[in-house]
Amino acid sequence: MLTINVCIGSACHLKGSYKVINRLKELIENKSLEHKVTLKAAFCLGECTKAVAVKINDENVLSVSPENVDEFFNESIMGRLLE
Ligand code: FES
Repeated sequence: MLTINVCIGSACHLKGSYKVINRLKELIENKSLEHKVTLKAAFCLGECTKAVAVKINDENVLSVSPENVDEFFNESIMGRLLE
C-alpha cells in the first residue's frame, strides 16, 4: 500500500497542488488502484522550495508539478507497484 501525500500549503497551492491532486486521483481511478494507493492532502511539508511537495509514505519529499505529474505517477507509483 502506498500513501501519496500532496501538500496543499500556500506555496504548493500557488504552484498547482489541486491540479496535481486531481490528476493523481484520475490516474488512480483509471487504473483501478484505489486499493493500492491512498491519496491524501497534507499541510506544509516543510519543503516549500520543492512546491508542489509530494511525499510517498514516509520518504523524502519530491517535487512534482502539474506538467510532470504523469511522469511522476508512472515512475514513482506504477514503477513500484510492478516491482
Ligand atoms: S507549502 Fe508545501 S511544502 Fe510548504
